Order: sequence, then structure tokens, then C-alpha cells
Amino acid sequence: MRTILITGGAGFIGSNFVHRVLEHHRDTRIVNVDALTYAGNLENLAALEGDSRHLFVRVDICDPEQIGPVFEEHRPEAVVHFAAESHVDRSITGAAAFVRTNVLGTQNLLDASQKTGVGRFVQVSTDEVYGSLGAEGAFTESSPLDPSSPYSASKAGADLLVLAAHHTLGLDAVVTRCSNNYGPYQFPEKLIPLMIANALEGKKLPIYGDGQNVRDWIHVQDHCQAVWRVLEAGRPGEVYNIGSSNEWPNLKIVKKLLSLLGKGEELIDFVPDRPGHDRRYAIDPRKMRDELGWEPEVTFDEGLRQTVAWYVSHRDWWERIRTGEYLRYYESQYGNRRDGGTGAL
Ligand code: NAD
Ligand code: DAU
Repeated sequence: MRTILITGGAGFIGSNFVHRVLEHHRDTRIVNVDALTYAGNLENLAALEGDSRHLFVRVDICDPEQIGPVFEEHRPEAVVHFAAESHVDRSITGAAAFVRTNVLGTQNLLDASQKTGVGRFVQVSTDEVYGSLGAEGAFTESSPLDPSSPYSASKAGADLLVLAAHHTLGLDAVVTRCSNNYGPYQFPEKLIPLMIANALEGKKLPIYGDGQNVRDWIHVQDHCQAVWRVLEAGRPGEVYNIGSSNEWPNLKIVKKLLSLLGKGEELIDFVPDRPGHDRRYAIDPRKMRDELGWEPEVTFDEGLRQTVAWYVSHRDWWERIRTGEYLRYYESQYGNRRDGGTGAL
């Protein structure tokens, strides 16, 4: 039995990864480290209750006094680092938490990994570190880092610390940079689940700017499989871009969602743009394909249909989230926008 330490395993991608690994790799035990911030949710892991191959530990990666003993006790062979502050809009109104978790937290994990002889460190990062594209082209692994938001700047800083730990200290480390994920358990502040939940409640769907910003969408299961391939076979010190060559302008996606839900387009509400809003992302995934033999499997039509069905049948999951702290966030994010807070949520 081998032990892998996962950070952020109660969040969206982390919890999907934990489920997938435990299902497909019987020889693997997971130590799941998560601070349970607003984005962490133990309900995402409820089905694993009683599974001796999954150990959840509530720990803040920003505190070396908390993280060190977990590494000492479990001596993981590998670390897959998902934990982060992940929402761009929140980083615009409060960058400090992003610097703390994404930069300092990553360095603490690198220190603990180095100290306890971790054999492989996978830094799960984002295409946003490359900044924005014009109408043509796609990000390759050698595209220059040009982050626009405090979120992406903090992820770029973390990536550089990971690569420095490899270069200078010899830590076996790899960086993955993926495009926009969608699928079950995504926190309903992100575009797709927010639009589904609002539409199901007959509320306005706030679209930033002209709705023509383009994102390159990948199903979370395809991302998880790619991260696993990199964990298994990526070359130390390398960066791997992950994407499914599936670009969509935001407005088109929202219309697609409304159609899947049988709702009318009158719910669409154009609101003022996100400050510094990156216009277009697109990933060139050739390195993943040519070097690691990875290919995405989920088509967008099927993935989106399944995702909508999941949010329809898990209404209690997102309704419980859309209370408390989330309501305060929603009011401050959208309340002073064009609809004056008169019922977007
Ligand atoms: P998420 O916000 O859903 O989950 C983040 C998790 O990290 C939560 O469970 C949270 O409790 C935990 N966490 C936050 N701060 C922590 C701390 N200080 N200590 C321990 N745990 C902490 O995020 P996600 O969308 O699942 O993203 C996971 C990772 O993937 C992030 O590193 C993100 O940058 C990257 N990524 C996300 C996407 C995407 O589209 N969502 C795309 C590419 C890369
Ligand atoms: O590209 C990978 C990144 O994708 C990840 O690193 C981030 O963690 C993840 O949050 C995501 O970032 P985005 O900013 O692209 O995702 P978000 O869902 O916030 O927004 C997607 C697009 O939709 C973006 O162009 C902004 C727009 N949008 C978003 C929200 C929340 C709206 O028009 N209205 C909204 O209310």
C-alpha cells in the first residue's frame, strides 16, 4: 500500500481526485489535508466514510507547526497539491489570503516534503499564470508567465517556488497547468454552477462585460486523470499544460445551460466587467498527449449534460452552501452591480 498526501481534497477538484484514485487504485492510501475554508466541504467526501484507505486531517498548510507532524507521521511517497484560494473575484477584493495560502502554504509543503524525503511533488496550477491571449494561438509550456489577477500572480509565484525547489534542492517536482474545469462538487461561485443554481431558482444570471471572454473548458475527471498521469510519469522539473481544446465564449455557455435547463434567456443580466478580466485562454495540450499519452475522454455536450443533471439532483448540496458566508460574499460581489442587488441571488 502506498501513501499519497493530497492537499485541498475537500474542494472541487481535490474531492473528485480523491474519489477517482480510491476507486481506480486499490494499492493507494490517501492522507487528505484540508483546512476546510469556505470552499472546503466534507459532504464532498461523505461516501468515503469508513474507507480505511482515506484519512482526512484538518490542517492549515500555512502553519508549518500543523503540517510538519502530518508529514512526519505518514511519510507520504508523493504529494499532490490542490489546496489554494481559487476564485479570481475574491482575489481582487482581498489578495492577502491568496498570497498566504498559495505562496506561503506551498513553500511550507515544499519544506516538509524536502525534510521527510517525499519522492514526488505535483503542483496543481492554472493556465491563468500565462495571462490573456488575443484572438489567435494557445498557451504552450514555454509561454511567458504574465499573470493578471492577484490569484494568478500568487499561483505563478507558487509554481516558481516549486521549480526552484527542484532546481536548487533536487526535489522531484512537477507543475501542471490546467484550463477551466467543470463538473460535480464545484463551488457555486464559479461560472457554470453559479449560472445553473441561479437559473434553477429563477434568478438573474450575471454576465461580466460583453460575455465574449473565452475559456477553454475541461471536465474535472479528465483533469484528474491527467494529474494522475503526471504523478506517475511526468519528468522531474517539467511543466505540463492540461486542456481539452474546447473554447467557448461565456455568453454561449450560459445560453447552452439555459437551454439544457429549459429556462428562458430573459434571465441573462449583463453586469459591469471584472476588473482586469482576461479576454481569452486556450491550452495547447500536445505535450500531455505526445509525452504522456493522455487524451481527454469527456465530450463537452455529454459533460455539461451530466453536470446540469448533477446540480439538479443535488440541490440540497448547493442550497446549503448558498447561505451564511456565501450570502455576504454574493451581496458584496454583485449587490452594487447593475441590478443593485435586487435579486441576482
Ligand atoms: P476549491 O476552491 O474548490 O478548493 C480549494 C480547497 O483548498 C478547499 O477544500 C479549501 O478548504 C482548501 N484550502 C484552502 N486554503 C487552505 C489552507 N490554507 N490549508 C489547507 N487547505 C486549504 O478549488 P478547486 O477549484 O478545486 O482548485 C483546486 C486547485 O486546482 C487549485 O490549486 C487551483 O488553483 C487549481 N486549478 C483550478 C481550476 C478550476 O477551474 N477550478 C483550473 C486549473 C487549476
Ligand atoms: O483557467 C483556470 C481557472 O479557471 C482556475 O485557475 C480558477 O481557479 C478558476 O476559478 C477559473 O477561473 P475563471 O476566472 O476563468 O473562472 P470563473 O468561473 O470565475 O469565470 C469564468 C468566466 O466567466 C470568466 O470569463 C468570468 C465570467 N463570469 C464569472 C462569474 C463568476 C461571469 O461572466 N459572471 C460571473 O458571475
